[in-house]
Amino acid sequence: MWTKESLQEKLKEKLADYQFIIASNREPYVHEHKGKKIKWVKAISGLTIAMDPVMQVVGGTWVAYGSGDADKGVVDENNRIKVPPYNPAYTLKRVWLNKEEENGYYYGYSNSALWPMAHIAYQKPVFNISDWEYYKKVNNYFAQSIMEEMKGEKSFIWLQDYHLTLCGKYIKEKFPEAIVSLFWHIPWPNPEVFRICPQRKEILEGLLSCDLLGFHLRYHCHNFLYAAEQELEAKVNWEEMSVTYQGHKTLIRAFPISVDFETINQKVSSPIADKTVEELPLQRGPYYEILALGVDRIDYTKGIIERIKAVDRFLEKNPQYQGKFLYLQIGALSRMHIKSYKRLFEDIQSLIEEINWKYRSGNWYPILFTSERLDYLTHLAYYRAADLMLVSSLHDGMNLVAKEFISAQVDLKGVLILSPFTGAARELKEAISVNPYDTETFADAIKEGIELSSEDKKTRMLSMRDLIKENNIYKWTGDFISELVKL
Ligand code: F6P
Repeated sequence: MWTKESLQEKLKEKLADYQFIIASNREPYVHEHKGKKIKWVKAISGLTIAMDPVMQVVGGTWVAYGSGDADKGVVDENNRIKVPPYNPAYTLKRVWLNKEEENGYYYGYSNSALWPMAHIAYQKPVFNISDWEYYKKVNNYFAQSIMEEMKGEKSFIWLQDYHLTLCGKYIKEKFPEAIVSLFWHIPWPNPEVFRICPQRKEILEGLLSCDLLGFHLRYHCHNFLYAAEQELEAKVNWEEMSVTYQGHKTLIRAFPISVDFETINQKVSSPIADKTVEELPLQRGPYYEILALGVDRIDYTKGIIERIKAVDRFLEKNPQYQGKFLYLQIGALSRMHIKSYKRLFEDIQSLIEEINWKYRSGNWYPILFTSERLDYLTHLAYYRAADLMLVSSLHDGMNLVAKEFISAQVDLKGVLILSPFTGAARELKEAISVNPYDTETFADAIKEGIELSSEDKKTRMLSMRDLIKENNIYKWTGDFISELVKL
């Protein structure tokens, strides 16, 4: 079983002489002005939730975009700050972008082109040439910042996600001996979809500068291998799962990402957590006996509208649950400068309003939405208190909310309803699987989840908890690094 300690041992043994540098667009800790004070918050993103505990164990440097309005005021002259603020364990090095760069690279190429292209959520990608120019420029900034941190020493560089596809190439051009890897946190599309991308060759070439490329699923690895074969006529070794291009070999591997089971489990089992769970009912919330929970960034890939429609249908078909059932949607606002995200947020609000009006009776209504930032313990307490967790992504690389929920279910009473279109569904077989596009069966699954016997709920939850306990975030990191050191 991989633990913090065994990961630390492994790194000491294998990577002691290396600078350990990771890079992602999103930073783990954000500093913001709150009145006259500067406060920090944890970023809301699957990537940072997964990587922060790893970095706390490993140490090293995390290079990321400084997105907070107070970020500049707290770093040193090299743009560095030690984090976590409450217990400094590693260095966060911030990269600065101006508004045009952020628009072109982040809102534009990363999230209006690559994100919709990678997810089958029927949102048309927009490939704008000026966004691409900013994307290249910002990838270069990241590469420069990483190279500064290498300090001319042997370095192990671990890039994260679709924002940084070109970064590895820029580094390898200057430091061919650096070990460069990238983990792709979202799905990799099939060849028919990928071939619409006008910059596909540059993206593949950028990625193939890396020594190791990780995806959540074998299926995504295969899609990538096809793309390399078809678009670059690169030499693909299907048995070894590798691509050789211009004399350089890249290993392609599946590593299903996970969460820090032990820490979540411990935090949520403490006496203070017991109290938080007891005091949970939201101050402005309605009366309820059964709590169903949704926790997402407001994103069209998450199937939030489909979920709300299923809740409506469930209440229509099962009036005995009216007055007792509450669906709480914790929704972090995300990428709001992109029209489709803004529209989605408005659509969610108006649909909730409509459904609440339809059923409202006395002090009860069925859906509560909050975009309030909750502290971590309260967040975990909701997972623990929930009777049902609704994860209905239309397409999702993994979905760590599902795994966090299971890690927090210390009372073994909750049920996970999970879309088969998430990476997590490949592992979490004891969840109730439901196609989010099929409102009728989704509604029935909510009823089934509520009415499962306590014994059945317990057995399913125990089995999923055992799995996540073993396949935790330290194993994910350990497996990735073990593969790399074989090189
Ligand atoms: O980890 C999954 C993920 O979807 C990342 O790919 C993405 O960067 C992140 O969560 C959240 O998005 P953002 O950083 O744009 O807020």
